[in-house]
Amino acid sequence: MISEKMKVALNEQLNAELFSSYLYLSMSAYFDDINLKGMAAWMKMQSAEEYGHAMKFFDFIIRVGQRVTLKQIENPQLNWDAPQAAFEAALQHEKSITKKINDLTDLAISEKDHATNTFLHWFVDEVEEESTVADIVENFKLIGDSKGGLFMLDKELGKRVFAQK
Ligand SMILES: [Fe+2]
Ligand SMILES: [Fe+2]
Repeated sequence: MISEKMKVALNEQLNAELFSSYLYLSMSAYFDDINLKGMAAWMKMQSAEEYGHAMKFFDFIIRVGQRVTLKQIENPQLNWDAPQAAFEAALQHEKSITKKINDLTDLAISEKDHATNTFLHWFVDEVEEESTVADIVENFKLIGDSKGGLFMLDKELGKRVFAQK
C-alpha cells in the first residue's frame, strides 16, 4: 500500500523528471542556436530519456492504484555562457536528481514500502548517467579553448544513439 505522503513524493518526482526533459530540450535548442549540432542531438536524446523516466513514474503511480496529478513544469534556463557551462549545469542537475531519488528511497524504506523501494532500484542503478555527463565535462576541460577540440567533441557527441531502457 502506497501512503499519501509517498503518493505526493512520487508525483513530485514525475514532475522533476519532466523538468529534466524540458531542461535538456532547452539545452538542445541552445546548442542548435550556436551551431553545435552534435551536442544539440545529444541533449535532445537526453531529453527523450528523461521523458522515459517520467513515464516510468507515471505508469508506476497508476499501477499501484494511485492518482497521477500533473503540475506546472518550471521554466528551464534558455541560455548558457558557453557549451561547457551547459554540460556543467547538466551535471549539477543530474546530481540533484540523484539526491531526490535517494531521498525517495529513504522514504520508501522508512515506510516499509517494498513496492516503491523495488521500483526505485532501477533509478538508483542509473548512476551511469551522472558519470557520462561528468566524463563530457572532463573532455571540455581537456580541450580548453581549442576550436578544433570543440568541433571534434561535437562530432563525437553527435554519434550518440538512442537506447530507451
Ligand atoms: Fe531521470
Ligand atoms: Fe537524468
